[in-house]
Amino acid sequence: MCGPRNLPRASRMSRLSPDAVVEPNETNGAVWIRAANASDVESLSIYFTGLSTTTRNKRFMGARADLAVVAAECVAKVSDPDYFTLLAELRLDEGQSTIIGETRYAYDAVARHGDFAISVADVFQRKGVGLQMMTAMERRASDLGHEMIAAETARANAEMRGLAKRAGFSDTGLGDWQSVHFAKRLSE
Ligand SMILES: CC(C)(COP(=O)(O)OP(=O)(O)OC[C@H]1O[C@@H](n2cnc3c(N)ncnc32)[C@H](O)[C@@H]1OP(=O)(O)O)[C@@H](O)C(=O)NCCC(=O)NCCS
Repeated sequence: MCGPRNLPRASRMSRLSPDAVVEPNETNGAVWIRAANASDVESLSIYFTGLSTTTRNKRFMGARADLAVVAAECVAKVSDPDYFTLLAELRLDEGQSTIIGETRYAYDAVARHGDFAISVADVFQRKGVGLQMMTAMERRASDLGHEMIAAETARANAEMRGLAKRAGFSDTGLGDWQSVHFAKRLSE
């Protein structure tokens, strides 16, 4: 889903599990990973708007101006377990919270694998947030009974390639001169 593909709607229903991964942070707060819901649309839109152009273009593999629409799409199918968005939220001791990362997951019932796109706010990159979200996404997909996750990214996207490798994904060789396709089989 890092690419502009549209996935078919999957039909299978599965259990949703709560996501709450706590990660100590250098600030006076903690990073929580949780599922997004309809009340997150505005904050998610603000999050996407605050990303640097470079990060945003990498996330969407091109320019997107309709960020409020994108945010709404991220939470549009919360009742369908084959689609979910996880948010990394920085919760400060003072009670404020800010979205600092997101990953959108969709299950392709025809290809029989999950697909995802991910981003982390520029100033929070390279602090382990992306890997935490990947781990949470894999756990949730596995709970849903999904056996494989795959994605595609630009060959020039060193950080996504690095993150995928670190998370245990392998290059499937299905990419081309400008994209890399990688996949990971989820354990039972
Ligand atoms: C890709 C992205 C989500 C990674 O998130 P992150 O929180 O910075 O990643 P992490 O800190 O969890 O890094 C985990 C591992 O990924 C790899 N990695 C992360 N950034 C990297 C970089 N710039 N270069 C090479 N490897 C990198 C490393 O192996 C890293 O482990 P290490 O720090 O112990 O070496 C983030 O860089 C991002 O938002 N990029 C722009 C959007 C994008 O490209 N999305 C992918 C297309 S959908």
